Amino acid sequence: MYRSTLSLLLAGASLASAALQVDFGSISSIKAAAHDVASDVMFYYKGNQPGETPGLLGRPPPAGEYYWWTGAILWSTMLDYWHYANNKTYNSIVREALLWQNGHESNRWNLPFLPLNVSAQAGNDDQAFWALAAMQAAEFRIPDPPKGEPGWIELAQGVFNSQVQRWDSKTCGGGLRWMIVPTSKGYNLKNTASNAAFFTLAARLARYTDNQTYTGWAEKTWTWLSDVGLMDKDSRIFDLLVVDQDCTKVNKFQLSYDAGLLLQGAAYMYNHTTDSNQATWRTRLGRLANTTLATFFSDGPLVEIACEGSKSITCNSDMVFYKGITMRALASAATLAPFLRDQLMREALRPSAEAAIKTCDGGVNGRECGFRWAEPGAGEKKTGVPMEMNALSAVLGSLVDDDRAYHPLATNESENANRGGGARSGGSQIGSESQTGTGSGAGDGADGDGKSAGATTHVAVGLVVAAFVAALA
Ligand SMILES: *[C@@H]1O[C@H](CO)[C@@H](O)[C@H](O)[C@H]1NC(C)=O
Ligand SMILES: *[C@@H]1O[C@H](CO)[C@@H](O)[C@H](O)[C@H]1NC(C)=O
Ligand SMILES: *[C@@H]1O[C@H](CO)[C@@H](O)[C@H](O)[C@H]1NC(C)=O
Ligand SMILES: *[C@@H]1O[C@H](CO)[C@@H](O)[C@H](O)[C@H]1NC(C)=O
Ligand SMILES: *[C@@H]1O[C@H](CO)[C@@H](O)[C@H](O)[C@H]1NC(C)=O
Repeated sequence: MYRSTLSLLLAGASLASAALQVDFGSISSIKAAAHDVASDVMFYYKGNQPGETPGLLGRPPPAGEYYWWTGAILWSTMLDYWHYANNKTYNSIVREALLWQNGHESNRWNLPFLPLNVSAQAGNDDQAFWALAAMQAAEFRIPDPPKGEPGWIELAQGVFNSQVQRWDSKTCGGGLRWMIVPTSKGYNLKNTASNAAFFTLAARLARYTDNQTYTGWAEKTWTWLSDVGLMDKDSRIFDLLVVDQDCTKVNKFQLSYDAGLLLQGAAYMYNHTTDSNQATWRTRLGRLANTTLATFFSDGPLVEIACEGSKSITCNSDMVFYKGITMRALASAATLAPFLRDQLMREALRPSAEAAIKTCDGGVNGRECGFRWAEPGAGEKKTGVPMEMNALSAVLGSLVDDDRAYHPLATNESENANRGGGARSGGSQIGSESQTGTGSGAGDGADGDGKSAGATTHVAVGLVVAAFVAALA
C-alpha cells in the first residue's frame, strides 16, 4: 500500500518535472527549451524512414492527417530553428525533404514544387509555401542542392515566374486564384493566402536579387488586395473572395497567417526600399502591425480567433498550423523592421512564447505542447505535430531580442552569386517538358557550414526508392 502510493507519487512528480519550464531572461534556457521542442517536432517526422515519402507529414487526408503544404511549414520551422537557435542537427533532413518535394519530373526546373502526386490538387498557396522554404534556405545560406539540380534561389524564382503567369487579370482586376488547375474545387476562389504568399515571395526575391521585377509585383499584389477589399482601410485582412461578375463576395474570416504573411512581406519591402518608397512601406507596415496585434494578440498570446474563439467552428487540420506561421512571420518582421521590434516583442512574441510554454506539459513524455495558449490548463489538451511546431516557432521568436542568435540574411551579392541571377522563364503548363539552363552547383554540404552531407542524403533517398520499387514488385 505504502509502496504503491509512493510510486504513484513519484510517477506524478516525474511527469510534473517533465513539463517545460523556461527562464525567458536566459538565452541558454530559451535555447534548451527550443532543443527539446525541436526534437519533439522531429519525433513525429517519419518521411526519412524506409517506405515513407521524404518531406511530408504522412499521407494527406483522408488516408492521413495533414495536407502536402504542411510539410513546407515543417521545413520552414526547422530552418528557423537553425537560424535562431544555431543548431544544425536537422539541416540535412531539411535539405533532403525540399529536394524530394520539388519532384523528379523534368519540369522541376521550370515549374518547381508541383510534383505529379499533388499537381492536380495543389493551390498557389501550397506551392508558394514550398518556395518560401527554399527562399529561407537561400537566405540562411544552406548549401545549394547538388550539381544538376536547381539551386534554392532558382527554385524560388521558378515558382514566382510560374505564378506570375497565373495572375488572372480577366476577373476581379487581377490576383491569383486559389487552385492552379481549373477543374479543382476552389478554382472559383481568390484567397488571401495565395496572394499574400506570392507577395511575400516577391518581396523576399526583391531584397535578395535587387531585381525591380519583384518589387513591381509586390506593389501590384498589395494594391490589388486592397482594391478588391481583402484588406480594408483599417488593415484588417479577410480570407477570400468568390470569383463572379463583380467579385464583391468577400468572406470576412480573419486568419492570423494571412495577416502574418503580409506583415512579413511588408517588412521585407520596408527594409529593401529607400526614401519615399520606404516611408510608404513604413506606414503600411505600422498600420498592419497595430491591427494584427489588436486582432489576434489582444490578451497577449496569439489566438486563432476564427476557430479558437468560435463555438461553431473547430480549428481544422489546416488551421492548427497557422499560429506557427504567424509567429515566424512576426519574428522575421521584427528583425527587418527594427522600429517595430520592441512593440512586436512586448505585445506578441514574448507573451505568446511564455504562454505557449505553459501548455507544454502533456503527451506521453509529459512535455508536449497544447494549442490554446491563452488558456493553459483549460479546454482541449490535444497534442500533435502542429502544436509542437507552433510552440517551437513561439519559443524561437523570443530569441529575436538576442543579436547573437541572428545570422544576417544573405543576398545574391553576399553569396551564391554564381547561382542567383539567372531566373528561368517559367512555364505555366503543368507537365510542360521544356527545360532550360543548367545548374552549376556550389557545395554539396547541408549543414550550413560547408561540410558535406550529400552522401547521407543520397543514401536515404536511395533507400526510399528501393523500398518503393520493392513494394511494387
Ligand atoms: C542540437 O540539438 C540536438 C537535438 O535537439 C541536441 O542533441 C544538441 O545537444 C544540440 N546542440 C547544441 C550545441 O545545443
Ligand atoms: C509520390 O508518391 C509516391 C508513392 O507514394 C512516392 O514514392 C513518391 O516519393 C512521391 N513523390 C513525391 C515527390 O512526394
Ligand atoms: C528579374 O526577374 C525576372 C523575373 O524572375 C526575370 O525574368 C528577369 O530576367 C530578371 N532580370 C535580371 C536582370 O536578372
Ligand atoms: C501603432 O500604434 C502605436 C501605439 O501602440 C502608435 O504609436 C503608432 O503611431 C501606430 N502606428 C500607426 C501607423 O498607426
Ligand atoms: C534591415 O534589416 C536588417 C536585418 O536584416 C537590419 O539590421 C537593418 O537595420 C534593417 N534596415 C532598416 C532600414 O530598418
